[in-house]
Amino acid sequence: MVDLIPEKLPKHVAIIMDGNGRWAKQRAMNRIRGHEEGAESVREIVRATRQIGIPWLTLYAFSEENWKRPRYEIGALMKLLKRFLKAELNEMMENGIKFQAIGRIYKLPRDVQEVLQETVKKTSPNRETVLTLALSYGGRQEMMDAMRAIAQKIEKGDVTSRDITEELIAENLYTAGMPDPDLLIRTSGECRVSNFFLWQMAYTEIYMTPTLWPDFRREEYFKALEEYERRERRFGATGDQVADAKSRWDL
Ligand code: IPE
Ligand code: IPE
Ligand code: MG
Repeated sequence: MVDLIPEKLPKHVAIIMDGNGRWAKQRAMNRIRGHEEGAESVREIVRATRQIGIPWLTLYAFSEENWKRPRYEIGALMKLLKRFLKAELNEMMENGIKFQAIGRIYKLPRDVQEVLQETVKKTSPNRETVLTLALSYGGRQEMMDAMRAIAQKIEKGDVTSRDITEELIAENLYTAGMPDPDLLIRTSGECRVSNFFLWQMAYTEIYMTPTLWPDFRREEYFKALEEYERRERRFGATGDQVADAKSRWDL
């Protein structure tokens, strides 16, 4: 067991859960088995996040580009999502997990949308950890939707171009009200962001691991958190400035 320092923990962890298909292929199994095993990792990581006391966890579960996949795989993923939400509701309630979904949710099958809505509604009073699933999510599409929303406000005369600030843009993203991710984890060894959180990731610490998502469990998660705690986040300042500011805080 690793020693984590509570004050140094990230407030928001985002994960690109990748490698389910390869996990299955290595075992001569169908890709769907990989997704099922991946759902077990989701369960374990959500539980661990809540236990450690991290307030925000966002999981990239289905991208806008994933609609390109074979129809049967999309169907199986949707079914799995529905099953997962139903099976996890009790645990979410017991553990104070507030659930939400971001992305072009209206593109998902109606029955999936209904279960999503129900889960959001039932878990809305919960206050411990916010679990966000990014579904039919794309960073560029999110920015496009935000630009449209802002343009409409300008057309209506509610704001002018001079009112466009980082804050206004952030307020019009799907992630309005959420802090930017402090730590991004990507499993399966791929070193790319695949259209995830393009705006939000400006100063996010990135942790890549070759471990495939179905094998990414508690121990691996703790390793990522431990590594995050060792990083020095400078946000454009110098290392000395960061050390100075820290020593002033410590006084
Ligand atoms: C991640 O695993 C799950 C989704 C993108 C839905 P993949 O299905 O992408 O697995 P690989 O990358 O093919 O191994
Ligand atoms: C990224 O994984 C999307 C999710 C994990 C939901 P992909 O497997 O779709 O990414 P690429 O295509 O390898 O970049
Ligand atoms: Mg993949």
